[in-house]
Amino acid sequence: MKSILETINIKNIIKNAHQKLLRGELVIFPTETVYGIGADATKPKAVQKIYDIKNRPYHNPSICHFVNLQKIEDNFEINELALKLADTYWPGPLTLILKKKKSSKISSLVSNDNNLVGCRIPSHPIANKLLQSVPFPIAAPSANISTKLSSTNINHLDTKLKDNVFIIDGGPSTLGLESTVINLSSDNPQILRYGSITVEQIKKIIPKIDKEKEKEKKSNQLSPGQQIKHYSPNISVRINVNSVLDGEVLLNFGKNHLSSKLLELNLSPSGNLNEAGKNFYDYLHQLDNSKFGGIAVAPIPDNDLGKTINDRLKRSIEKK
Ligand code: TXA
Ligand code: MG
Repeated sequence: MKSILETINIKNIIKNAHQKLLRGELVIFPTETVYGIGADATKPKAVQKIYDIKNRPYHNPSICHFVNLQKIEDNFEINELALKLADTYWPGPLTLILKKKKSSKISSLVSNDNNLVGCRIPSHPIANKLLQSVPFPIAAPSANISTKLSSTNINHLDTKLKDNVFIIDGGPSTLGLESTVINLSSDNPQILRYGSITVEQIKKIIPKIDKEKEKEKKSNQLSPGQQIKHYSPNISVRINVNSVLDGEVLLNFGKNHLSSKLLELNLSPSGNLNEAGKNFYDYLHQLDNSKFGGIAVAPIPDNDLGKTINDRLKRSIEKK
């Protein structure tokens, strides 16, 4: 249980964060998936600061965070399918791409001048309190430098972000993998990014849903963050290994014959994919040290959260 002092302290921190956001400044805050770096989504100058500090290209749209469904309905067109998904998975790690209403004050910078915007209601109590404290949605990508590893606790934050942005420390993220992004703007709903809600869970609501094909991605540019090198450590990564090379550290999973002479971290010795998801970024941050020759990653089963972990691993080895 939290002590009274801790409760007063977090209230003050949220008050400070709320004042920063009102002044058009940035705030790093915890969510159940990964930490976000947020700004007033209705102020272009504030949103621009996110892109500048992250070195993020403007064509990669940011997710807007809302306190409740009513606020989303004020700004977006919501169909029956969106309502069903919202009812089941919000608040939580789901992002829906929705069509913005003409009356919405959300800055076009959030979505690269497109009227399709990623929306989510986080379940983290601190994110929720922060969203309650401001009269606008918070635009927030993950709190990392573009293409680098996401942050699931504040020790993971790059010094450029740490030194320049107000931070709310909410401890380690409970889920550890980003939200699942679904495009509902066409007749053919598609998963744009695997995430903390599994394909199996989404299929309970939309049985025929599939992942956007790589070919389509190239042509429609809807989810640019999914095409390029992403989620990458600084040192090299080899995935699906059946042996570990000299100089390599090991990101292991379950029980097997693999071992490293230098360092091994096991995502889940018992082979539990939820535990692996929670540890994933934290362990990659720990292994990402220039004194090691590279990170060898054990095979991860390609079901449930394993699909999301494998997706991040594949992107982490992309060259650009
Ligand atoms: O769990 C999460 O989603 C975290 C927390 C902070 O909410 N946020 C996050 O944001 O991971 P970001 O910006 O790092 O990743 C958002 C992904 C990107 O791949 C982006 O391309 C896609 O969602 N996305 C966002 N808005 C979009 C839009 N309007 N159309 C298509 N894709 C969009
Ligand atoms: Mg990101």
